[in-house]
Amino acid sequence: MGENLDSNPNAATPTFYLKSYGCQMNFYEAGVVKEILEAKGYIETKDENKADVVLLLTCAVRNHAEARALGRLSSLKRKGNNNGPIIGVLGCMAQNRKQTLATRFGADLVVGPDGYRDLPDLISKFRGKQIPQVCFELNQECYEGIYPKPPGVDKVTGLVSIMRGCNNFCSYCIVPYVRGRERSKNYREILKEVEILSNGGVKDITLVGQNVLAYNNQGLDFCDLIKLVEQFSKVKRIRFITAHPKDFNQGVINTLAGLKRFGPGIHLPLQSGSNRILALMNRHYTREEYLEKIQLARNRIPEVSFTTDIMVGFPTETEEDYLRTLDMVSRIRFDFAYMFQYSPRPMTQANSIEPKVDSNLAHDRLVRLIESQNQITKENSQKLIGKELEVMVEQIKDKQSIARTMNNKIVIIDKPEPLGKILMTKVIAIRGWTPIVEILNSESVKELSKEE
Ligand code: 5AD
Ligand code: SF4
Repeated sequence: MGENLDSNPNAATPTFYLKSYGCQMNFYEAGVVKEILEAKGYIETKDENKADVVLLLTCAVRNHAEARALGRLSSLKRKGNNNGPIIGVLGCMAQNRKQTLATRFGADLVVGPDGYRDLPDLISKFRGKQIPQVCFELNQECYEGIYPKPPGVDKVTGLVSIMRGCNNFCSYCIVPYVRGRERSKNYREILKEVEILSNGGVKDITLVGQNVLAYNNQGLDFCDLIKLVEQFSKVKRIRFITAHPKDFNQGVINTLAGLKRFGPGIHLPLQSGSNRILALMNRHYTREEYLEKIQLARNRIPEVSFTTDIMVGFPTETEEDYLRTLDMVSRIRFDFAYMFQYSPRPMTQANSIEPKVDSNLAHDRLVRLIESQNQITKENSQKLIGKELEVMVEQIKDKQSIARTMNNKIVIIDKPEPLGKILMTKVIAIRGWTPIVEILNSESVKELSKEE
């Protein structure tokens, strides 16, 4: 049970600690939760031991993600006894596991992804009654009117959610069940959020959604929206994540090619290279269509960089199916891939697809896939040696600058440079898989910084 804040010397300024797991959407929504709590007088603390309320913003996409959050929850409960902070589980795992998180794991608050506006009320109710408070209603929530603050002086990148939920029902995926149906944020709200971040120093913005290409608000689609963002904002780079291959087409490619500030790194989850598995996954594209789309984009936007998600061990996957995935990886040569072993998720259709793949076999396939992709990632980096790249400094660490290319690759400059500065550089070496660059000459630097 949590402490009663009314008898707490800090009651006037209650503090919260928020830990996020999972995807970019969760990291964006952490900003929404902070805004909601701060509007009610809560103050964020980075020290979990000093918090009156500890919140875990969780992911449910794989069992492993849930296990991590459950582990954290258990250790918080053990540490807290009866005098510890109020403990809340928010997000996708809250929506998935519901009351059991209170009854079996001792959470004081369990709040799904659409319930964050109620958090201050739920905390107060818990304080009053000392009875766990839950909220699992899925509504059309887009958190309009809540504008996460710019990240502060040490960060020049920012996220803006443009749509929430998913209608695709890929057969392995829990997201449609825990986040509900697709809905898009009003485009004016999006432009306002981008402006707030940009005025606060953000220069590189990522539009986020479970499937951004499904954006649809007042007759405006994703292409209209991204053009508006470019037209009405001062940010230097505009990115998005995630795009579904079935909706990625010539029209989208033409729009992106026509933008001046689009950062041409595209995350296009492949999942599998086998048409039989893609059909079982309910993905609505074939390997041939996927390849064709990659080729169309590469023809039209030569500097485009593709990254992807790949899953191995989906039910019924044979060695032959798996080899088709490896074949796609070697044909496409992604710059980076997130690679996973299939994890059965409650409610999903794939649970009833048999036979399942032996877990050791799936693990072995994953290891081989990772080896193969890592080699490609390294070779792609090596090909950059001698190339000139425009980069933006994002972080200073150990007297080095960590910067990002227009097409979303991380590079290192061996000296500190001002955050947000755009520099013309040349790749001189590869360390691990990361390109090391040198600044080309002060002339080009001056040229570029003039227009900032
Ligand atoms: N098992 C393993 N990986 C999954 N993903 C989604 N659902 C599952 C699952 N049940 C992966 C997909 C998706 C990424 C976010 O997580 O590759 O693109
Ligand atoms: Fe995790 Fe998916 Fe939810 Fe993001 S949307 S938090 S990846 S389950």
